[in-house]
Amino acid sequence: WLRYLPVSNPVLLQQYKQQLVSPVVLGSSSTVSVIRTELASALKGLTGNAYTVSSSLTSTNTLIIGKADASKILSPLVTKEELKQLGEEGFILKAKPGKTIITGNTDVAVLYGLFHYLRLMQSNQPITNLNIISVPKLKLRMLNHWDNMNRTVERGYAGFSIWDWHRLPGFIDQRYIDYARANASIGINAVTLTNVNANALILTPAYLEKVKALADVFRPYGIKVFLTARFSAPIELARLKTADPLNEDVKAWWNNKANEIYSYIPDFGGFLVKANSEGQPGPQDYKRTHAEGANMLANAVAPHKGIVIWRAFVYAAENPVDRHKQAYDDFVPLDGKFNDNVMVQVKNGAIDFMPREPFHPLFGAMPKTPLMMEFQVTQEYLGQATNWVFLAPLFKEVLDADTYAKGKNSTVAKVIDGSLDNHALNGMTGVANIGTDINWCGHPMAQANWYALGRLAWNYNLSSDAIAEEWLRMTYSNDAAFVQSTKQIMLRSREIMVDYMNPIGLHHIMATGHHYGPGPWVSNLNRPEWNPVYYHKADSIGIGFNRTSTGSKAIEQYFPEVRKQWENIATCDEKYLLWFHHASWNHTMKSGRSLWNELCYKYNTGVDSVKWMQREWQKQQTKVDAQRFKEVSMLLNVQLEEAKWWRNACLLYFQTFSKQPIPSNYEQPDKT
Ligand code: GCU
Repeated sequence: WLRYLPVSNPVLLQQYKQQLVSPVVLGSSSTVSVIRTELASALKGLTGNAYTVSSSLTSTNTLIIGKADASKILSPLVTKEELKQLGEEGFILKAKPGKTIITGNTDVAVLYGLFHYLRLMQSNQPITNLNIISVPKLKLRMLNHWDNMNRTVERGYAGFSIWDWHRLPGFIDQRYIDYARANASIGINAVTLTNVNANALILTPAYLEKVKALADVFRPYGIKVFLTARFSAPIELARLKTADPLNEDVKAWWNNKANEIYSYIPDFGGFLVKANSEGQPGPQDYKRTHAEGANMLANAVAPHKGIVIWRAFVYAAENPVDRHKQAYDDFVPLDGKFNDNVMVQVKNGAIDFMPREPFHPLFGAMPKTPLMMEFQVTQEYLGQATNWVFLAPLFKEVLDADTYAKGKNSTVAKVIDGSLDNHALNGMTGVANIGTDINWCGHPMAQANWYALGRLAWNYNLSSDAIAEEWLRMTYSNDAAFVQSTKQIMLRSREIMVDYMNPIGLHHIMATGHHYGPGPWVSNLNRPEWNPVYYHKADSIGIGFNRTSTGSKAIEQYFPEVRKQWENIATCDEKYLLWFHHASWNHTMKSGRSLWNELCYKYNTGVDSVKWMQREWQKQQTKVDAQRFKEVSMLLNVQLEEAKWWRNACLLYFQTFSKQPIPSNYEQPDKT
């Protein structure tokens, strides 16, 4: 989306040129250099002119960019009061005919302002009269890479890891710089480089030198590096006998390790930890709590102003009743026990990045602990790199959900931005979908999800519509008809995918292991909660997981107002029906259809809607370059096959329980 294609509308181009006549970028720092380079290349691309970007202010400058302490640029367009609202990262962008000012309290804030300004031109918006004050809603806006040290990427569908450990630190791939530019352009200011399941090697000096090289590349773009910390690292790297967080040698080891890391990377962000989950080591191995484990690491990074992000994605085989309940049961009793520099990172839903989940019950339930949102940008359960699914509507659905923790309008967004419970630390992360593929993210439309994560972390009030539109205009074309139709495909794509994969609240019915395609019949894995049959519970009576008070009681983890929306089968929001209820095959849905017929309807609608996506896309042939047009067309063919595969597999399998026919007005599944 940083293509800076020439502005083709001559009237607009003329207006832009009038505003741009004489640009100046004030200050001197590595970030200011980045601002100059980005500005020059963007203006060249957008207007075709090679601008000289000066570095000292004269009365003739028309575009003035720089930190506010270059006080000359303050009045009359920018006031001190306005600057106070900005904090460290907010920016001001003001323009009247012949004069534009982009400023903030730090160079990085100015860089964010510049990217916003360029976005306006890239998406052909007016720039002559502007009065924009923009402050990020969340402090930590992060990407979590699940990249292994051998360059495979866990749940990655876009090639190998972009971190070329072998050639680092000496060789700085241009990709690192472009990656930093892309992130800064959407406000992402933190990254973890390694998989939550990665080994401890990343913490050794040989690798820390490489991490330092990346941190040095990212710093001018305002991006801090974090690392995943394997809890057993003291045993693996230093041959200690234990990793018990209360053991003095263990504490000393981590303190020294933190000091060592900060000697390489003075602004190191801190650690991200997956502990006692899916076989990873953790404090519970020593009968210590998550809080004791997190606090030990937090003490190690505290002198350097580092933080610890402790994941709440935990579930154990020993507790087979309902995996949905486990994170809440483990973490709520620890509320108030974490150090000030610890955040608990919670996945958006209680199971695992399903096509649709109700929000995680931990949101709102730990008022004394800052909770960080974890979304998955990579499409592990959402068709991986062959399905076109725009995720902003999924992210928004969760952020806008009301927890009722402090009465109405206690949205998940207000929990994670810290405003509900007055937390200084706050943030949101996405598991990255980035790899070595030439288009970065696998599917030519998947970059939109990286983009959406960053934009929503900056401002969760942006609409999915606005985000899709910006991204399409910058990445593809400003042609109004193209934007209109393609945006509709994007906006509907997530619901379409839910229809052909997991309608009416079904979940975790994918093939196990790789998580690609349907597998609702799988029942032979030794961990019961990994088997799809554990989740859909289809039988001769009906289908769905009873999580109400007559079932697993998971619904009791939500506040009463929320429970009320879901606990009565007659009134439950149907998108979560089978998430919370075991409903009979003949249960009457709001449409008047029986549940079985509704299931048939949803799966078929999903398939038909992919055909609609194909038809809409075919209309864009003349609007898009041939390569991307063809790639998306081919992938839509695959997506249609996969939608049919899901429909056929799920309906034929569930039919063995419902014993009812698939209504004759639908395509009859091919049993082969
Ligand atoms: C999912 C995913 C794993 C990942 C885990 C996690 O279960 O399939 O690959 O490690 O989430 O978030 O830790």
